[in-house]
Amino acid sequence: MSHILVTGGAGFIGANFVLSWLAQAGADSVVNVDKLTYAGNLKTLASLDGDARHIFSRSDICDRAALDSLLKQYRPRAVLHFAAESHVDRSIHGPADFIETNIVGTFTLLEAVRAYYADLGDAEKAAFRFLHVSTDEVFGSLGPTDPQFTETTAYAPNSPYSASKAASDHLVRAYHHTYGLPVLTTNCSNNYGPYHFPEKLIPLMITNALNGKPLPVYGDGLNVRDWLYVGDHCSAIREVLARGVPGETYNVGGWNEKTNLDVVHTLCDLLDELQPKAAGSYRDQIAFVKDRPGHDRRYAIDAGKLERELGWKPAETFETGLRKTVQWYLSHQSWVEDVISGDYRNWVAKQYAA
Ligand code: NAD
Ligand code: DAU
Repeated sequence: MSHILVTGGAGFIGANFVLSWLAQAGADSVVNVDKLTYAGNLKTLASLDGDARHIFSRSDICDRAALDSLLKQYRPRAVLHFAAESHVDRSIHGPADFIETNIVGTFTLLEAVRAYYADLGDAEKAAFRFLHVSTDEVFGSLGPTDPQFTETTAYAPNSPYSASKAASDHLVRAYHHTYGLPVLTTNCSNNYGPYHFPEKLIPLMITNALNGKPLPVYGDGLNVRDWLYVGDHCSAIREVLARGVPGETYNVGGWNEKTNLDVVHTLCDLLDELQPKAAGSYRDQIAFVKDRPGHDRRYAIDAGKLERELGWKPAETFETGLRKTVQWYLSHQSWVEDVISGDYRNWVAKQYAA
């Protein structure tokens, strides 16, 4: 049986990737390596309970011995690296975990994979790939008329999160140039969709709106993000894994630049249609709050290389993807309640008590 090893597969994008990967006919089994921080949620993967193609290991990517043992046991044909501390606001309050996981963890994983790769036979070496999942935030902030980020845009990270991701990208690049590790890097824009932890803009706004709480918009609400439905990010990663050129980087985006205020207004309008309040609009709950320190003004991705070279295009528009997302949250309130109440953590404590 052939395997891929995924790190961070209990998080938002990693779990969506694992679920969509195993939904493919004839897919390789997945060795899912996740530390289960506050952001890791095995309830997201409940539909895989009893599925022998999903092997879960609660492990830290900073734990070299655990990584060596998993690589030796399962001999994956590829490693896909999603694990990270991912929330910018948390990185501002406490950067240490970001340095540890995003930089030291990526370094530890690269070292383990370098040793594993060195011992592969020629055919296995030729087929092996290390795919590093990164972000558009490494490129910094754009002015209103600046061209979109391309793969050659200079790195200019502005938050502890984006600086730690930039450092991990540089390490991945160096392991290709120095040691010949066949690496691929994707730099993606803001994702949204099912199983998104309700600390990030879109799930937070949906959750607060339904609970009658304020919808906190930072600053003037005119910061721009480029939104991509998570299922489209997963399909891009599958394409890059299958046909990307080792050593290359690929920008992934949805061609959907929106101000935060536009996003929040659209969400309120969708909720007004799908779950109307007794009186008034969800827009009435919008509250402008203190800005995020160092808040990047605009991100925009030119995903042309991925389209030209690998034929990838997003399947969802912002309108179709956001409607699906709101409908998913409305019909999966128990998943959200478990996250908010912390019940998913109790389950993890029980599951791993031994
Ligand atoms: P997330 O925070 O939802 O999930 C991260 C996962 O990594 C969690 O399951 C967590 O338990 C796990 N993890 C954290 N530290 C770990 C460690 N030391 N060892 C093992 N596992 C650990 O993040 P996400 O939004 O799913 O992002 C996944 C990746 O995609 C990250 O690398 C992020 O930088 C990148 N990315 C995210 C977005 C986005 O919009 N969310 C966009 C572009 C790129
Ligand atoms: O661009 C890709 C990045 O997108 C990923 O690398 C990160 O992991 C991911 O978290 C995301 O980062 P952002 O900081 O852009 O996402 P967030 O959802 O935190 O915020 C989106 C925008 O909304 C941003 O301009 C800040 C604003 N915001 C956010 C929150 C949580 C608000 O106005 N109010 C809020 O309460």
